[in-house]
Amino acid sequence: MKKDLLAIKDLTKTEIEDIFSLAAQLKVNRKTHATPLRNKTIGLIFEKPSTRTRVSFEVGVYELGGNTIYLSSDEVELGKREAIKDAAKVLSRYLDGMVVRTFSHDRLLEMAGFSSIPVINGLTDMLHPCQALSDLFTIKEKKGLDNVAFAFVGDGNNVLNSLLYGCGKMGIKIKVACPKNYEPDKKILKEIGVTAELYNKPEDAVKGADIVYTDVWTSMGQEKEHKKRLKAFKKFQVNSKLISLAKKDAMVMHCLPAHRGEEITDEVLDGKQSIVVDQAENRLHVQKAILVKLLK
Ligand code: CP
Ligand code: NVA
Repeated sequence: MKKDLLAIKDLTKTEIEDIFSLAAQLKVNRKTHATPLRNKTIGLIFEKPSTRTRVSFEVGVYELGGNTIYLSSDEVELGKREAIKDAAKVLSRYLDGMVVRTFSHDRLLEMAGFSSIPVINGLTDMLHPCQALSDLFTIKEKKGLDNVAFAFVGDGNNVLNSLLYGCGKMGIKIKVACPKNYEPDKKILKEIGVTAELYNKPEDAVKGADIVYTDVWTSMGQEKEHKKRLKAFKKFQVNSKLISLAKKDAMVMHCLPAHRGEEITDEVLDGKQSIVVDQAENRLHVQKAILVKLLK
């Protein structure tokens, strides 16, 4: 594996499969596995809020025997209090690894470029690779990855971009329904090729799906566009009527946090087909595997 985990496109299919098999072992042996991060400290540098990513990384590092230090943007003020490259070089002398959640992907690339320790992408405006890897691991557990019909309904955002890369790597066909002007990154669609099909109507993407995935219409940092987005995405809500078009045993996924009543109804999120909590739990196991692989 490369030094950092910044994007799924940097991983090979075999590396992804190796992460999944280690994650499965760590999950089964959660209380008894080895502690390979003993005497290691991981910095969590978060410029946006987080529940799942922060807590799953903190708990994951502790379970592997290591320590964490959480630094919010108020503490480090990357690029404001000092240049990103200065912080990256200095933090590399103290820490053994870093998880970075920030705005532009370029900020993350700069941080990783000037760090001599592994840097893990904990979400940028463009990508959320740990999320998408955990999601594919969850699908593998529940349905297997062969011939799974995956539908994504909603915004062409960081989560979708990473799911596209993940599906591309694993050869999974993904049907995506987005409103006009909210499609995923064109460069990514081109890179992943034939495995993605774009639709403007959610019904067309969801028909016959095994998995129906959605995420918020307004991501962190886009709050000013909330009203405009509510209007643009009105017809893209994942509700019972839409889910009735998928396979009978289809499963519903959401990376969370959800904006209930916007992209997804209470009925669907709390319903029998929803696997969102299992999906969130798997962040822990998959990220532990990533940490072990990068820090070994
Ligand atoms: N899914 C996810 O990354 O959640 P948080 O923003 O709470 O970390
Ligand atoms: N697309 C969402 C994902 C949160 C985990 C956001 O960036 O806010």
